[in-house]
Amino acid sequence: MLAALTMTTGCQNKPAETADSTNAATDSVVAESPLDNAVVRAIMDRRSVRKYKPEPVPKEMLDVILHCGINAPNAMNEQRWEVRVTNSKAFIDGVTKVFVESAENDERVKKMVENPDFHNMFRNAPTVIFVAGKADEKSSPIDCGLLGENIMLAAQSMGLGTCCLGSAAGFLNSNPGAANYLKQLAFSDGYELLYAIAIGYPDESPEAKPRDASKIRYIE
Ligand SMILES: Cc1cc2nc3c(=O)[nH]c(=O)nc-3n(C[C@H](O)[C@H](O)[C@H](O)COP(=O)(O)O)c2cc1C
Repeated sequence: MLAALTMTTGCQNKPAETADSTNAATDSVVAESPLDNAVVRAIMDRRSVRKYKPEPVPKEMLDVILHCGINAPNAMNEQRWEVRVTNSKAFIDGVTKVFVESAENDERVKKMVENPDFHNMFRNAPTVIFVAGKADEKSSPIDCGLLGENIMLAAQSMGLGTCCLGSAAGFLNSNPGAANYLKQLAFSDGYELLYAIAIGYPDESPEAKPRDASKIRYIE
């Protein structure tokens, strides 16, 4: 079925296990298939982007993307999430400076900041979205995850790239030098930053990483 899906969607980034299933003749036969639609294409084409053009995402686009986010399904419609977004170079470069300073104690960070293409700690994106969930509420991380995927797929549908970043949230939550930046995000009491989303015009087209189709099993 997945093979059929990738054939019908004509996705640019085919999952590795189906990478050889392109067939122009079959594509033309199934081009009108209901399996071929913009949502499926956005899902199958989305990849984590770690190289961006410098232009920030215009506010009109962000508005639509963020409203797609908060329209995600969520437990009891309690909307246990808070979202912050910034195009601010002062914010992004400021917290990145703290990140760079922390590199001497962390080999992984050191490797990242020594890369000549390194511009900022958010995979060099010009715009960053921060998502916080309500601490101690079981459904909140699920709600926030669904919100994030809506954001990333809406962005994909508009030609933007994204990358979900758990490490950036970990840094902001734990590094004392970053506390002032976390404070500027002004999450309500009881909310905890869960992840960030780098977002911008992509400057790379990463290949799909392989997916393990055996994780899916039909129960007869
Ligand atoms: C919860 C979560 C945390 C992630 N954290 C990071 C991160 O800190 N840095 C990064 O470069 N990518 C991060 N990613 C992106 C994953 O590496 C990526 O989604 C995965 O390798 C699959 O690749 P794809 O998104 O291109 O399909 C994260 C993704 C998720 C869902």
